[in-house]
Amino acid sequence: MKINEGDFVLISASAEKKWLVKIEKNKEFHTHKGSILLKDLIGLDFGSSIVNNKGATFFLWKPIPADYIDSISHSTQIIYQTDIAQIIFSVGICSGKRVIEAGTGSGSLTSALARYVKPDGRVYSYDIKEEHQKVARKNIEKLELADFVDFKVRDAAKGFDEEDVDAIILDLPTPWEIIDSAYKSLMGGGILLVFVPTYTQVDQAIEKMVKSNFYQIEAFEVIRRDLTTKIGAIRPVTRMVGFTAFFVVGRKGIPVKK
Ligand SMILES: C[S@@+](CC[C@H](N)C(=O)[O-])C[C@H]1O[C@@H](n2cnc3c(N)ncnc32)[C@H](O)[C@@H]1O
Repeated sequence: MKINEGDFVLISASAEKKWLVKIEKNKEFHTHKGSILLKDLIGLDFGSSIVNNKGATFFLWKPIPADYIDSISHSTQIIYQTDIAQIIFSVGICSGKRVIEAGTGSGSLTSALARYVKPDGRVYSYDIKEEHQKVARKNIEKLELADFVDFKVRDAAKGFDEEDVDAIILDLPTPWEIIDSAYKSLMGGGILLVFVPTYTQVDQAIEKMVKSNFYQIEAFEVIRRDLTTKIGAIRPVTRMVGFTAFFVVGRKGIPVKK
């Protein structure tokens, strides 16, 4: 597959040094190993390599969803690749789904949700703080996903505008205050996922979910342990992210009317 003007390309100088770059023919991209004229990449195959003016080699990769997360500018704590992957699978996100998230934060999760629900699905993203959503909007526009997201500045405890959505994801400090609104906006059988960093929050979220007719409740965390990739010396790395947050997932049930 050839690189065209307007494509995003992941340019790598090594396993660690890589940059997500949009190909604009009048631009030059500067690195610690010299610069690259972006027009020179047009027409090359993804996966090919180039040597620049300083003799440095760069590979040109077609970005996968995980690569875009590294280019998110932060104004808040964000959700990273390992947890995002779990969220996508746990709530069943795929093309055509309608999903609410609160809060938007910097839009890291928003960008992944939008990438998977497009072209016919939609993300409705709520945040109580306008300044956070401003950063998120910029991130989403930069990644050309704005056509698939509605941003709303609101306290999620005051309710959501949408009905019959497939899934709701809450990444904010007091999810139990929002669980009644979530129940109203979900379709029967829709999935609620709460992402919180402490056991007390997990406890409060589960208690409220049980009272509000959510069923099939699971709570867990996801830990990724990387290995070194030096042949002959492969072993777990000595430093790792030991903890991010807990997941609580449940399904909206409709009890028999008595
Ligand atoms: C940790 S950040 C979310 C990060 C986001 N998931 C990401 O990946 O970029 C939490 C956000 O929740 C918002 N928030 C807190 N309480 C809220 C509420 N009651 N309603 C809506 N948003 C809320 C905060 O303003 C903040 O932006």
